[in-house]
Amino acid sequence: MSDKRILLIIGGGIAAYKSLELIRELGRRGIACRCILTSGGSQFVTPLSVSALSGEKVFTELFDLDDEAEMGHIQLSRSADLVVVCPATADLMAKAVHGHANDLASTTLLATDTPVLMVPAMNVRMWQHAATVRNVAQLRADGVSVMEPDEGAMACGEFGPGRLPQVPAIVAEIERQLEGQTEGKGGGLLEGTHCVVTAGPTREPLDPVRFLSNHSSGRQGYAIAGALAAEGARVTLVSGPVAIEPPRGVGLVKVETARQMLKAVEEALPADVFVSVAAVADWRPARAATKKLKIKGAGSATPSMELAENPDILRTISNKRKHRPALVVGFAAETNDVEEHAAAKLKRKGCDWIVANDVSGDVMGGTENEIALVTRDGVDRWPRMGKDEVARRLAQKIADALDGSDDDVRLAAE
Ligand code: CTP
Repeated sequence: MSDKRILLIIGGGIAAYKSLELIRELGRRGIACRCILTSGGSQFVTPLSVSALSGEKVFTELFDLDDEAEMGHIQLSRSADLVVVCPATADLMAKAVHGHANDLASTTLLATDTPVLMVPAMNVRMWQHAATVRNVAQLRADGVSVMEPDEGAMACGEFGPGRLPQVPAIVAEIERQLEGQTEGKGGGLLEGTHCVVTAGPTREPLDPVRFLSNHSSGRQGYAIAGALAAEGARVTLVSGPVAIEPPRGVGLVKVETARQMLKAVEEALPADVFVSVAAVADWRPARAATKKLKIKGAGSATPSMELAENPDILRTISNKRKHRPALVVGFAAETNDVEEHAAAKLKRKGCDWIVANDVSGDVMGGTENEIALVTRDGVDRWPRMGKDEVARRLAQKIADALDGSDDDVRLAAE
């Protein structure tokens, strides 16, 4: 992807400083950035910092004779494979909807024939205002991609949707769009969907140097995230500490504890699909010491550890009233009575499917898995296969379910 280039329009909002991180991350992946800084944007970041990171001249003025001589706004608008507006303010989106052309950013958006991705960030009331809702719908109808903002505490002290999505999610979306262009866009079965996947273990601290955890490698979850992205989904992968690299085109959010993992998953919603592959620690030390615990002296009594229950992420997401994904998939490792236990787990957690893994043989820690897909309507037994093949098959099943061609599953999901 090293020959790809984006034109980044930095709008005026508190989230503008994140565009610097975005430029750096894209650079690491070999994606070059040419930047336009709006006058609002320059209140938050300086042209100097943007050009230092992008390694290129920053464009700011519409009527800059030098630029017009070297590269006019028409040429500028067409000099990239993708135009990214980040942060996309309410004002910039409104201008784009109405075809204004009174500054460099809006003129470029009007003149471009290149795909445009908007990454909104604004106050929750502005995001939810009827005018913005109308504008976002119009932009999408005009063929502009508009990412959903994140939900959470905002710089202005309010809470709700409107926060800039996390930089890894933006990078993943940009990569996905660029990749779609090379592969001939629209081919993926999950194009236009958002999938959230958890993977790996969680780490529950006892003190600054000790923790409770497990041996999960994260391999199956990472393979599933990669298979969903390969089918065109926007994927947010929320991962505990693992030693493997994230798949291409996937937005990685790194966490340590179960409580952080739940928060990251909730912040990633809304999503169409949630796949809970992480080996979440059921318990955590009730109190994590802020200083390293010391042995009290030779012969002193062995300390005991009090545990507290961790949130059940799968059950919490399955039982959400607002933003419950259409399809929620859990995993279960069982050594005996695999299908009965999985069916009971399906009910207990309130999810739509359980991918039951028979770990009675020698699959533990290996590269193969023996799977039974348990839904409310029955069991689908898969032959023993590699973790990548399990991932591909599951992504295909998920696409069928969302598409409605798997009617049993569709009903279960509703
Ligand atoms: N899970 C979760 N949060 C937890 C525990 C588990 O999201 N605190 C999810 C896992 O990601 C997996 C599913 O729940 O998708 C099943 O996990 P498992 O540990 O097998 O289920 P438990 O409820 O712990 O049941 P048991 O250990 O008794 O089999």
